[in-house]
Amino acid sequence: MTAEKKILCIGAGYVGGPTMAMIAFKSPRSRVTVVDINPERIAAWNSSDLPIYEPGLDKLVAATRGRNLFFSTDIKAGIQENDIIFVSVNTPTKTFGHGAGMAADLQHWEKTARQILEYSESSKIVIEKSTLPVKTALAMERILNSRENGVRFDVLSNPEFLAEGTAIRDLEQPDRILIGSRETPGGLKARETLVEIYAEWVPREKIITSNIWSSELSKLVANAFLAQRISSINAISALCEKTEADVTEVAYAVGMDSRIGSRFLNASVGFGGSCFAKDILNLVYLCRHYGLDEVADYWESVVHINRYQQERFIRNMLGAMFNTLAGKKICLWGFAFKANTGDTRESPAIFIARRLLEEQARIVVSDPKALANARADLAGVEGQISFIEDPVQAAEGCHAIAILTEWDIYRDIDFRQIFRVMTQPAFLFDGRNILDHRRCFSIGFNVYPIGKPPLTHF
Ligand code: UDX
Repeated sequence: MTAEKKILCIGAGYVGGPTMAMIAFKSPRSRVTVVDINPERIAAWNSSDLPIYEPGLDKLVAATRGRNLFFSTDIKAGIQENDIIFVSVNTPTKTFGHGAGMAADLQHWEKTARQILEYSESSKIVIEKSTLPVKTALAMERILNSRENGVRFDVLSNPEFLAEGTAIRDLEQPDRILIGSRETPGGLKARETLVEIYAEWVPREKIITSNIWSSELSKLVANAFLAQRISSINAISALCEKTEADVTEVAYAVGMDSRIGSRFLNASVGFGGSCFAKDILNLVYLCRHYGLDEVADYWESVVHINRYQQERFIRNMLGAMFNTLAGKKICLWGFAFKANTGDTRESPAIFIARRLLEEQARIVVSDPKALANARADLAGVEGQISFIEDPVQAAEGCHAIAILTEWDIYRDIDFRQIFRVMTQPAFLFDGRNILDHRRCFSIGFNVYPIGKPPLTHF
């Protein structure tokens, strides 16, 4: 069968892999190839042990791989053989030079643009899937159109809004698909080609189109708004702890206002993940670049509150445990930045673990999916660290448990048994407000939720 659409994705990561699997699944007449420079990653995509954990992903890959979904390291052939190219390489925050800690590091992205130019023998539609600073498409166009060889490139922006842990559902039933293009005949035609791909399963009214800069900016702004809601409720959680208000009740009451809405109002130990901090810092950098310092300060405060919330968690632990953690054994339940993923990027757990070790506590890290990443994150950090997957075993002999990820398994644990194996007085610091606090208190724990009065036996 000749494929109707020949699609390539450069970058086999969290976004590229699942998104292409969904396109291949929903568009059986298309042929989708995913390439990456990392041979181990590609080998994993070709094995039964996929490189990322995402509920439902294995089924999707099993249904499509070898049929119309292929994983390969041959970037050159990929570019030559396909005419619709998604670019989904990582764009982390720059760690060096001008803009370090703020701006996006675009080296992988630019290298990819140059490879597309070098290997293309026919015209291509190039789609930015990675989150990029506004106006990156312009730079992409300039690189791609730097040669006069009759090959035409149309650049589109199509940001991905999927969240980890629910990626497959988000891909299958997205709130919206956003496609930004140039308003030229070529740009509009390219845009229509991409609309057709998504229209295989997404209702037309949910596929929205815009100019290319609006599309690029919308992705940053969407993440900034979501993160801002979390920082807003986390800031209020600090006030709740002082005033005996209960942040869950406040969030519920506030969220009932249909203008505000109830989602993303769970107070927590802080947000993590590869996108929020990175995208806000990117937005802040852009604002500063354009001389909009007040706007930059406004958004930067979202990141400041997030760090403040993590430091506050440590201060609360210190205060509760008689102002010293030295030599005490503290069990961290959860290391992933959220439940249902093994991803630990920017996880508050990394900061919390380091701070506890600075206080000379001994830590036991437990997580059902993220222990390998946790080991890597804490490699070289001084102090006594052990890793135990089973949460009950991990809690043995500990003075405190800090819940850092909202894994369901922690809700259903036998807390009587946990209480018996811990050092007394036993402390629970619920950084996700997922436990039945009254029940844990009645078993004997001293319980410290986020944004609620603590329940203590002293
Ligand atoms: C986010 C965006 O949701 C997604 O649209 C974008 O494409 C990528 O960034 P993700 O990072 O996968 O997705 O996770 P998300 O579910 O948004 O959670 C981010 C962080 O916020 C997690 O650490 C989570 O635990 C925390 N969070 C979320 C809260 O602390 N409180 C909440 O109410 C919601």
